[in-house]
Parts: sequence; structure tokens; C-alpha cells
Amino acid sequence: KQLSVWVSRPLFPEVLASLAQYVDVRVETKETKRTPEQLHAKLADVDGVIVGLSDRIDAAVLAGNRRLRVIANLGVGYNNLDIPALTSAGIIATNTPDVLTQTTADYAWALMLAAARRVSSAERWLRAGRWRGGMRFDDWLGVDVHGKTLGILGMGRIGQAVARRASGFDMPVIYHNRSRLPEAVERECRATWVDKAELLRRADHLILVLPYSAENHHAIGSAELAQMKRTAVLVNIARGGIVDDAALAVALREGQLAAAGLDVFEGEPVVNPALRELENAVLSPHIASASADTRRAMAQLAADNLLAALGYGPHAGHPPSWLNPEVAKRA
Ligand code: GLV
Ligand code: GLV
Repeated sequence: KQLSVWVSRPLFPEVLASLAQYVDVRVETKETKRTPEQLHAKLADVDGVIVGLSDRIDAAVLAGNRRLRVIANLGVGYNNLDIPALTSAGIIATNTPDVLTQTTADYAWALMLAAARRVSSAERWLRAGRWRGGMRFDDWLGVDVHGKTLGILGMGRIGQAVARRASGFDMPVIYHNRSRLPEAVERECRATWVDKAELLRRADHLILVLPYSAENHHAIGSAELAQMKRTAVLVNIARGGIVDDAALAVALREGQLAAAGLDVFEGEPVVNPALRELENAVLSPHIASASADTRRAMAQLAADNLLAALGYGPHAGHPPSWLNPEVAKRA
């Protein structure tokens, strides 16, 4: 085998085996945050890599690298990759869209329902042995989900999949997105476009599904939170940094909104301690795409992208989810 690849975290054995049919594979045994210097060294003598969100790949990490041909990201979001830097270095970048859409949309609903109905907090209370001490009829009152207005900020594939689930709960759907969906898609999702201010004001449950960019940094901060209903539930399955976590913790503590369900955090894996202390926040460690079937499909798609970029397999030369097709394949 002529070519070598580096995989920055453990993957499913059958996926690694599919890589090893064609290339030499070096796999890390655990997922950790690496410094730019460590990444630079890991990337120095390989032809392709599979990385994840905690691996930030930019011009400094690539400096002097003449060998690397492809970076396959495990995830649909790719704000960890500096795409212009990769493109100008002639390196192919890929992500894992589509395979995680439905699973991620399911999880948005899981967090919304859990936060609205206080599932995590009630379970902590039960596990602490407090139920047998007695409970009142008006304890554990949550907010309803069915029949309420669902707001969605960011209406890509995942946002649309979230919206489609709303009809079974008799929820009208309003959304905001930079560009409006075609009317036929709006009809199919039963979703109505509104401006951001109206979305914040009217949503009973607001789900964030927009990609991270400098422009979307703190798209939800104290000013936006102040416009939301005091009974509202906020769900972030998008990216850390889209919400100002410190401002959210204040708003949740002061009852400016009812509850939040959060799968992503600013500075994760470190989570703002103020959020960790709140009973009305349901917190999870960035697992929205983590079903057995979907994580396997994401890993396989990343591997297929990698092999295709290196000229192997059924898609040789044409990675299925190529982010910068303007990179001409190097001979
Ligand atoms: C996960 O956050 C992803 O972008 O797939
Ligand atoms: C990307 O963020 C998507 O919604 O598929």
C-alpha cells in the first residue's frame, strides 16, 4: 500500500476495515482536543485524514504540508475547517450531510420534550429518593408541547426534518432563515417564514438549527432572549457559540424563559458552570446524531469520501460530499 491515512478518533471496526483494503491506517485510541502543533505533526506524513469537530484545521496546521490530499470531516457542520485555506492548498474537504438529518431532527424533539416536561430534573429528584417524601398535585408542572407554536431558526435539511414532525403534535410552524424556502417546500413542511424578531416573539418552542459562522456568533444573546416568551423553551442542537451561554444562564435563572435543551456549548467539552447548576436546563454532550445506525453511516460516508478523494472505491475521483469541488484532483 502506497498511501497512508490518519483517523483522529476510534471508528467502527468495519469502517476501518474498508479503509485498510486500500491504504495504511493509523487510528487514535481516543478523542481528545489536540493543539495546532500536535495536529500539524499528525498531518505531516499522511495522504488523507478523518477528523472531527474538535480538530481545528487551518492554514497554520497545514503550513509546509505538501502531501495531504483530503480532509474528511465526521459531521455535517464543518466550521472546524478553514475551507479557503484547504482550497488554496489544493486539499479536498468533505462532510457527512443527509445520513444524520432524521436522527438529528429526532433528537431536537427529544430535547424539546425533555426540557418542556422537566424529564431530567424529575429523574434526578426520583433518583435522589425524594418521591417517597411525598409530592403535590401541582409539582413538576411543565409547559405543553402539542398545539403550541414551533419556531425554527435555520431551515436547512435538519430544520425541515424538525418541521415535518410537528404535524403529529398539531403545532403551527414558523421559521426564519436568510433565504426563504420555495413555496412548495414551505407547504410540505407546513412552515411560514417570519422575520427574526417575530420568530422570537411568537415561538413557544424555539429550535436552533443554523450552521455556525462569524455572522451567526451569538445569534441568540441577551437582547434576543429578552424578546422571547417567559414560557418559552429554547433548544440548541446547532453549534456552540450560536447562543451566548452566559446570557442564557442568566435568562434561565431569572425566569425570562421556561427551560432550555442544549446539546452544544461554547467552548465544549467545557460547559459553562452557570448552566450546569440550573434545573431548567437539559444538557447533553453533543450527541444529536448519535444513534447506532447513524454514527455508523457517518463514519462510512467519511471513509467513502476519503477513499474516493484518493482515487479508490466506487466513487473514485468524486467524493460523494465534496465541499470544495473547485479543487482539481491532483494527479
Ligand atoms: C455535528 O455536530 C455535526 O455537525 O454533524
Ligand atoms: C445543515 O446544517 C443541515 O441543516 O443539513
